Amino acid sequence: MPSRPWRAAATALATVLLVGSVAACGNSDTGDAGNDGKIVLGFSQVGAESGWRTANTTSIKESAAAAGIELKFDDAQQKQENQIKAIRNFIQQKVDVIAFSPVVESGWDTVLKEAKDADIPVILTDRSVDSADKSLYKTFIGSDFVKEGRLAGEWLVEQKKGASGPVNIVELQGTTGSAPANDRKKGFAEATAANPNLKIIASQSGDFTRAGGKQVMEQFLKANPKIDVLFAHNDDMGLGALEAITAAGKVPGKDITIITIDAVKDGMQALADGKFNFIAECSPLLGPQLMDLAKKAHDGEQVAPRIETEETTFTQDQAKAALPNRKY
Ligand code: AHR
Repeated sequence: MPSRPWRAAATALATVLLVGSVAACGNSDTGDAGNDGKIVLGFSQVGAESGWRTANTTSIKESAAAAGIELKFDDAQQKQENQIKAIRNFIQQKVDVIAFSPVVESGWDTVLKEAKDADIPVILTDRSVDSADKSLYKTFIGSDFVKEGRLAGEWLVEQKKGASGPVNIVELQGTTGSAPANDRKKGFAEATAANPNLKIIASQSGDFTRAGGKQVMEQFLKANPKIDVLFAHNDDMGLGALEAITAAGKVPGKDITIITIDAVKDGMQALADGKFNFIAECSPLLGPQLMDLAKKAHDGEQVAPRIETEETTFTQDQAKAALPNRKY
């Protein structure tokens, strides 16, 4: 039998070991980010360039609160270097899960590898990356941007099927190098190739912003006396272009057919008012699904590698009917 002082020392040592192991468990379960046992999600957002982005940010913040997930939110202001810095900060803070909407498609392998080496699962939301190594991220949740461009192009082909002469199209592209700009351009070009009368006479980036859309449309109008169609990669650029078109003495929706993507409230209002002619929807309401995926990724559950958002299209009459219940 050990003596009393020896027994007291052994008890003290056991207590220290027990407390130490509980603390270690706590760290691996919740990260070092500090919380009340909640999952910690580090999210790097593209920026605040459009109505779509604002609605997406709201959806993510509200869903995190509703799901009891601690959200560390970072706004990258449309800069890839800011996103890389934010992701490295999240890794350093040992968050449980990292999610981000990549501003451009290329250049992510190194930082994604750092997250993988730190054993932190990564979820891509809204936009994807062009990394060949798919093991660098768990899943990608978002729209099929090629399909959106194709739906926009197919609608135009149908509208102009009786056209006898050339139909001049100008295109306002999204942020250069971003997945939605690359893919929407591709889908639209593929669909409109069905009618050789449809010609894209000018195509330039308006960076997904209203100001960019207005400024580039002004240049298009100055350089091209005959513009029949505007295809804008999002509502905001289309809304900016409306100002340029009106200032040039033309009637939007009549003199120039306007097709956009997103279907945010302001875009839907312009469609219902007859200023836009067609919108292919892109839903920003990704928050609830993202939180569900974050929980699964944290718990080591299997998730599908690609989750596609359900979407539709709107004509002017459909916009009038849908507007009263539009959430964003
Ligand atoms: O990635 C989604 C796109 O980004 C939206 O269509 C656009 O409005 C936003 O800026």
